[in-house]
Amino acid sequence: MTSQASSRAFRSQPLTPDAIRSGLKTERLGQTLHVYDRTESTNSTAHALAKKGAPEGTVVLANTQTRGRGRMGRHWISPPDVNLYFSIILRPVGDPQRVGLWTLAAANAVAQAIEQTVGLPARLKWPNDLLIHHKKVAGLLLESVVQKGQIRYLVLGIGVNVNLLCEALPKTLRNSISSLRQESGRVVDRIRLLQRILETLEIQYRSFQVEPPGKILNAYTARSETLGRSVRVQDQGHEWTGIAEGLTPEGALILRRRDREEVIIRSDDVVHVRPSHVARD
Ligand code: BTN
Repeated sequence: MTSQASSRAFRSQPLTPDAIRSGLKTERLGQTLHVYDRTESTNSTAHALAKKGAPEGTVVLANTQTRGRGRMGRHWISPPDVNLYFSIILRPVGDPQRVGLWTLAAANAVAQAIEQTVGLPARLKWPNDLLIHHKKVAGLLLESVVQKGQIRYLVLGIGVNVNLLCEALPKTLRNSISSLRQESGRVVDRIRLLQRILETLEIQYRSFQVEPPGKILNAYTARSETLGRSVRVQDQGHEWTGIAEGLTPEGALILRRRDREEVIIRSDDVVHVRPSHVARD
């Protein structure tokens, strides 16, 4: 924890629909807005709304979650008043195979918005962790509902540790998880950050529908903390180590094992095994 971050008096900013809409420069994302003080998981609430026909761009946001979900069935710690927990309903027309690529495009857009808001470089750990100073400050959980080979809808869940102080985290997590306040030494305006994220995502989403995969992959690669590194991947009883060599056109990770064999990783858990500066040199 920085001394600046710990010593500042902090007053939580209420997340109200009016405050969020005021000054929000989007056409769709966040124009339909459901704000809760508490929900189990904004992703679960968004699924329920999407099934009832909620329009594209609907945002579900909560001040706290009682069962926040992370990737790989993990729990997402969601204390009240300090962070952002929200989910966006999207209804893209197109190939379900491109959904993995959309995760990368969305992660890139959120990283860009965070960087512009706090002025610190945001990096990406494949596929969808956002890191500042090598610590995780945000994560994305994209869930898709596909029927008869068509995307019915997507729920993009985003959790950002905004003003959380690391002393509130279990000791075992303090080396790997942080917040924007912790890393910048400043209290961050949750509403402004949310607006910037929605605006950046909307621009990215529009161009995603027309851009070739190469452009999205290049933008992701430029921010990647995983590519070029030595990584360990665990998947139900299997473990591979190797160099994260590149991305497939669908956004899967290409791992080159020591025996030169290539393994394609789609949704497994990736652990960085060496500091990035060593692997990048
Ligand atoms: C991860 O890094 O494992 C993904 C974390 C995603 C957390 C967000 S918080 C808002 C939304 N609701 C959830 O239950 N999960 C996502």
